[in-house]
This record gives sequence, C-alpha cells and structure tokens, in this order.
Amino acid sequence: MPAQIGVTGLAVMGANLARNFARNGYTVALHNRSIAKTDALLAAHGDEGDFIRTETMEELVASLEVPRRVLIMVKAGGPVDSVIDSLVPLLEEGDIIIDGGNSNFVDTRRREAALATKGLHFVGVGVSGGEEGALLGPSIMPGGSKQSYDALGPMLEKISAKAIDGAPCCAWISTDGAGHFVKMVHNGIEYADMQVIGEAYDLLRSGAGIDPAAQAEIFTEWNKGELASFLIEITAEVLAHTDAKTGKPLVDVIVDSAGQKGTGRWTVQSALDLGSPTSAIAESVFARGLSSQRDQRAIGQEVLIGNEIAVELGENFVEDVRQALFASKLVSYAQGLDMLTSAGKEYNWDLKLDEIASLWREGCIIRAALLADITKAYAADEKPANLLFAPAFSEAIAAAVPAWRRVVATAVQLGVPVPVFSSSLAYYDGLRRKRLPAALTQGLRDLFGAHTYNRVDAAGSFHTQWSGDKTEIEAEDTH
Ligand code: 6PG
Repeated sequence: MPAQIGVTGLAVMGANLARNFARNGYTVALHNRSIAKTDALLAAHGDEGDFIRTETMEELVASLEVPRRVLIMVKAGGPVDSVIDSLVPLLEEGDIIIDGGNSNFVDTRRREAALATKGLHFVGVGVSGGEEGALLGPSIMPGGSKQSYDALGPMLEKISAKAIDGAPCCAWISTDGAGHFVKMVHNGIEYADMQVIGEAYDLLRSGAGIDPAAQAEIFTEWNKGELASFLIEITAEVLAHTDAKTGKPLVDVIVDSAGQKGTGRWTVQSALDLGSPTSAIAESVFARGLSSQRDQRAIGQEVLIGNEIAVELGENFVEDVRQALFASKLVSYAQGLDMLTSAGKEYNWDLKLDEIASLWREGCIIRAALLADITKAYAADEKPANLLFAPAFSEAIAAAVPAWRRVVATAVQLGVPVPVFSSSLAYYDGLRRKRLPAALTQGLRDLFGAHTYNRVDAAGSFHTQWSGDKTEIEAEDTH
C-alpha cells in the first residue's frame, strides 16, 4: 500500500510526528539522510503502525500516493532549501511539500511563491507542543493554499491535540507563510509568558523571601484559577525539583542565562516592520539578551549601586504578584493578537483570531484556560479592536490594576527588574490615556526637520516656521 505521507528528517520532532501519523492509522514513509536513524526508529517503534523504510529521496517519493505529501522536518534555514531542491525534480504538479519546522515566515513566503510556479504546493506548518506534543497531539498551524489544506488538513487535524469540546487544535490559517507567522507569534507570547512567570518568581524570592519549594506550592495553587496554564503547571514542577548532586533547588544550580533559537527575536523584528507595539514580547526577548551578557553582569554587580528603598510588603503581596502576573500576561496576549491583526492587513491574510485562539487551547506551549475566553471574545459578532477591549478582559484587567501598580512600584523600590510587568502596565496606561506626549514629539520633529503635524481642530498638515516669524503655514506634503 502506498504511504499517505512521507517524513524526511527523523530527529526527535520528525520521528514523533511520523509515529503520531502511524498511530493514527496512516501509512508513513520514513526517510533520513543517515539510514541509521530510520532503522533506530523502526527498531524501537516499528510496531506502532505502518511504516515504509526508504533509503533515498527517490524511494521516498516513489512510495507515496498521489498527490504526494512530503513532510520536511529538518533544521530551519539552508537545510530546508536543500531538501526542497532534492525533492522538486522528483515531484509532479499538485504534490505537496510541507515544512513543519520553525521556519521564518519570510522564507516560507519565498518558497511558496517559487514552488507555486512549478505547480507544487508548499505548506509552512507551525507545530507547537515540544517533543511530547508532536507524539501525542500538537497544536498545528498550517499555511499554504486552501487547496493544499483539502488534501492535507484532515490528516493534520487527526493527529492534532483536541480541545475540551473535541475540536481539533488545527485549522487552516491563511495563505503562504501565515502558518509560520502565527507560530512565530505564538512563540513570542511564549517568551513573554515565561518572562512574567520569572518576574513573579524573582519578586517572591528576593522580595518576599519565599524559597522555591514553597513557591512551587503557590504556583500549583495559582494553576487552579484564572492563571491555569501549562507554563504555570511546569513552573511548579521545576521549582519543586531538587538537584540530586547538591541537594539544592535545581533552579539555584542552573546558570541564569537564557538561550533563544530565534522565533522570539523574529517576532520583534517583524513587529517593528509592522509598527506593532509588542513591548511585552520585546522586553522578554531583551531580558534573555541581558541575562546572557554574563561578563557585563559580573562587572555591573561590582560597580553599579542600587540604592534600593526598603519597603514593607503588604500581607497581600503574594496575591498582588499573582494579579500583576495575570494582567501582564493578558497584555502580552493582547499585543501578540494585535500584531496578527496588523500582519493580516499587511500580508493579505484573512486571519481569524477566534480560530487561532481556539487551536492554541490545547497541545501548544502557551495553552491556557484563558484561551477559551479569548476564543469567545473574537467569536462575538462585534470583534474587539484589542483583546483588552472585550468586556470580559477589560473587567478582568481593571480588577487587577491596583495590585499591578503596587507590584511595579514595589519592584522599582526593591531594585528587582520587572521589564514585562512594568512595560505592560505602561502599554495599558498608554492605551487608555487621553493625551500622549506624542504631541510634543511631533512639535520637536517639526522644529528640527519640518516634518509637519496635524492639528486637533483642523484637517490637513501644518508647519510652524520656527526659524522665521513662527507663523504657521499649511503644509503640502508630509516628510
Ligand atoms: C513550541 C516551542 C518550540 C520551542 C522553540 C522555542 O511551541 O513547541 O515554542 O517551538 O521550544 O524552539 O525555543 P527558544 O526558547 O529556544 O527560542
């Protein structure tokens, strides 16, 4: 029997997705550059379903039913292009190449356009859930042509996670690179989500002196309420873990320098291109960057003075921190979703935020109880212009504001850096403020560069003749 899908690249993610397809009843052709990996997979898990062992790209392609579906699971960047190059001469019009890695959506757009001229479908698919998700049911974000989804979507939906209502955590996102774009933003939110958890941990530890084991209990408790999410759950697990070698909390023996593979950075780069204010995500990427500057930090510890202000922590401090964490988390989701709205306009993608929030409900790293409410907010007839404007969320965040302000003020006094708690609050205040100092910015731009400004009381652009008699003239064009 021909295979319904071929997988090339059998490192953990590729192997687990291949097994997931096979466990769901599909015949899966396996290919890897070194045959040893294919054989190891077959030896360990060959009895889980129907696999076809192939040694070459030719054999892989020959083993597939038409239209052929080939899933590439190799490292993002150059390796994806080389696999595509070796596949293309072997494929026929209507066949589908799928890239399930964390590829940059710009590359996906380029590849999709190039392959479309050859009559091939190229589908960039965002896959979230880590190794376990890939095996047991990830959250899946496919882009590419709608036509390709007809041939591929049912299979992806079958292997995806299922939400509590049984809906698959997979839906066609939109054309070309939309799937990888949405996965990228998912990761940006993931960065912010992890950073706000880190800020809460730091405040509870160095502010309130609560040790990791006791914090594990606090996070376990938090996971029962509005913060319920995978990341809060695993925070409790990590904080409760004792290092076998030293007997210390594991978190105390891990070097405090956070790595990053690129998706968070790409989110921010793309947000800058779109002019989208994703300050929470940006601050979380920068926080990882600062943590990695270990040489500078070593000097900073010696030469920079804190002059912290002693503060009496109120008895509700832990609850205040929880609320600040929740409010900041809402802001990071709001910013990520707003960025999707901007991207939809820029790249002509009809992004349905309710469907996207819905497929993030299970399987992915940012899965959270909150996503059910986000889904509802965007499924309403009247879509909110910003998540925070949906009544359920403006009320929830309003309830957290007093605690949020107290926590940020306390953190500043204690000298505990809370870049996402504080920048999220600034974003919130920026959104609700009647007049922003941008008016002054415009005045300054007009003075030094004749960049012109708009008036609150008249249409058109204006320029004050700053170096002349300071009279105002109506400007023709804006610079
Ligand atoms: C997921 C994860 C996954 C991975 C990223 C993040 O959704 O399953 O986001 O894609 O963990 O590679 O990695 P960095 O933190 O290294 O950027």
